[in-house]
Amino acid sequence: MAKNKTVDQKNVGGSESSIAVHWQEEKYLYASPGFIGQANLTDETIFERFSLDNFPDYFTEYADLLTWYKGWDTVLDTSDAPCWKWFKGGLINASYNCIDRHLKDNKNKTAIHYVPEPENEKIEHITYQELYVRVNEFTALLRDSAGLKRGDRVTIHMPMSAELPITMLACARLGVIHSVVFGGFSASACADRIIDSNSRVLITMDSYYRSGTLLNHKKSADEAVEIAKKGGQTVDTVLVWERYPGKYSSETPIVKGRDCIVNEELTKYYGVRVEPEKMLAEDPLFLMYTSGTTGKPKGCQHGTGGYLSYVAGTAKYIQDIHPEDVYWCMADIGWITGHSYIVYGPLSLGASTVIYEGVPTYPDAGRSWRIAQELDVNIFHTAPTAIRALRKIGPDEPAKYNYNFKHMTTVGEPIEPEVWKWYHKVVGKGKAVVVDTWWQTETGGFLCSTVPALQPMKPGSAGPAVPGIHPVIYDEDGNDIPAGAGKAGNICISNPWPGGFQTIWGDRDRFVTNYYTRYCKDPNSKDWRDWPYLTGDAAMQAEDGYYRILGRIDDVINVSGHRLGTKELESAALTVGEVAEAAVVPVAHEIKGKEPDLYVALKPGIAATEELAKKISDAICNKIGKIAKPRKVWLVPDMPKTRSGKIMRRVLAAISNKGDVGNVMTLANPEIVDAIKRQVQK
Ligand code: WT7
Repeated sequence: MAKNKTVDQKNVGGSESSIAVHWQEEKYLYASPGFIGQANLTDETIFERFSLDNFPDYFTEYADLLTWYKGWDTVLDTSDAPCWKWFKGGLINASYNCIDRHLKDNKNKTAIHYVPEPENEKIEHITYQELYVRVNEFTALLRDSAGLKRGDRVTIHMPMSAELPITMLACARLGVIHSVVFGGFSASACADRIIDSNSRVLITMDSYYRSGTLLNHKKSADEAVEIAKKGGQTVDTVLVWERYPGKYSSETPIVKGRDCIVNEELTKYYGVRVEPEKMLAEDPLFLMYTSGTTGKPKGCQHGTGGYLSYVAGTAKYIQDIHPEDVYWCMADIGWITGHSYIVYGPLSLGASTVIYEGVPTYPDAGRSWRIAQELDVNIFHTAPTAIRALRKIGPDEPAKYNYNFKHMTTVGEPIEPEVWKWYHKVVGKGKAVVVDTWWQTETGGFLCSTVPALQPMKPGSAGPAVPGIHPVIYDEDGNDIPAGAGKAGNICISNPWPGGFQTIWGDRDRFVTNYYTRYCKDPNSKDWRDWPYLTGDAAMQAEDGYYRILGRIDDVINVSGHRLGTKELESAALTVGEVAEAAVVPVAHEIKGKEPDLYVALKPGIAATEELAKKISDAICNKIGKIAKPRKVWLVPDMPKTRSGKIMRRVLAAISNKGDVGNVMTLANPEIVDAIKRQVQK
């Protein structure tokens, strides 16, 4: 325990690390000979080839997995450090690499298995040929009906559907930069992203199924357009896909002159083919917004050639995807996991990727395993939050179904060894190899994970760095903390890699300050060695080189594997007129990992009522989405504060988690701590 104290103290905002730091070192488990016999990466020289002595050239092994119109002149251009340019001079198109190049040998192979939530609806199996046709026709629509061209940004607010990757790949074909907003996010969150990216086109779908209900999704589009307009961004075109082609399924009417029903409009483009744009390797492919420490979400800008090389390489070697595999990643495409490891990674390798519309536990605990059985899925990918939920409602369910996973992934947050073991033993039937992949929206692809056929698994540890990634753990003063020191610190990556984001859209300064300034050796340097990348996570490295990730060091809460900025939640609470101050802290949750608890101090003279608490909670759901719904809104008489007036989130977090609040006598108002404790812990 004593060893870990430093980490807990650094975690103002609550001890994100508390789940992980109590873990014991677990024993190794080994992949089966059967797995090793068929694996893509069994050559141990990979680690030597991908050592820093050979940097950056080793990453051309990943770039060579793709088809280029023209090869690069420079592997890594550092002249605008730390905005790295990979494969400079190369020309490539992501849509071509995910579709066209597979046609020659595999046009009849399924690219996408789309599974609707209602079990009486048929699964759609879209071949590469059909994907080619549908993407081409939609590309023509984007170009001619929506007037889009290379370099424009488009916001996509769509549910899990085959039309979502079709939309993304059509954008990529034209060189239009897509910004996909998670379908569960509210209109207001969507509007913020429309404004930040200056999108004049919004692409949506009329409706989708979730837990048995057909939700009206078009409503969000109308609201988002209205909010964006108030924020200075006009959306002149809304493209609406139909959940049931030919049958508009939303109560919200079509707005004449602005909205266009895609499935009707497409009839104009039957048979049209659009040559993919030859993009520069460094041209942006997409933006993916993520939470940061300040309220405004950051548009992580990912490039084309570097990003696609990195996801293809890691999908091939870490996920062990072969063209003949059926691969199911349960994440939502609206998150980076879906972009990299549902769409771009698997499709660039010519595999079959599964897209499931709905809730994994709907209508019962067996649903996921029935899908796996029916499609004969052999690679499975999900997050601890889903694993915990599946385990809770159906611990014995997987055994009832006849499916065979060779490989399984966990991603998004630290996984408790108990949960890991259930995943391995019950879901994987003791046969599948498990990789725990640690990475971020910003990093485009995996940073740490075992190479499945070469390195044993260790429950609770993400594993060593993946080939080509060279992490370093720094203490507060910038000294390296060596492996096996038993101390945690700030984990950084010492070298650039092709999957890394290029900048924050429109805010280079914030990019540099947030991710590089902390340990930068010389701000004028053009040498990558002077620019370690700060991940913002705390981690410790065991003697064997395996990393254990302890959680965020900044004000970000990881709910169900996704980052929510505490500041974003607090500012949403402050939109309610009665609220004077708001503080969000993470609370441990059995399934979601963490949940936000919201503390609110009201303006003088305002009575604390249940209705008001609900109003504040609703404000957060409206502004951000239901994913951010606080466990509880505590209306407290005052916030515990330092003498300089800073709200002590650490104290509130300790109260919410029934932990030790520590010494509070230095606070400006120590008496409030007991009062809040009585209220919360009763
Ligand atoms: C943060 C990134 C990675 C794509 C999905 C989330 C945490 C992620 C792990 C893991 C422990 C993990 C980190 C990271 N995280 N994977 N395997 N073990 N922690 O992307 O929303 O950008 O969140 O999720 O804290 O920084 P994201």
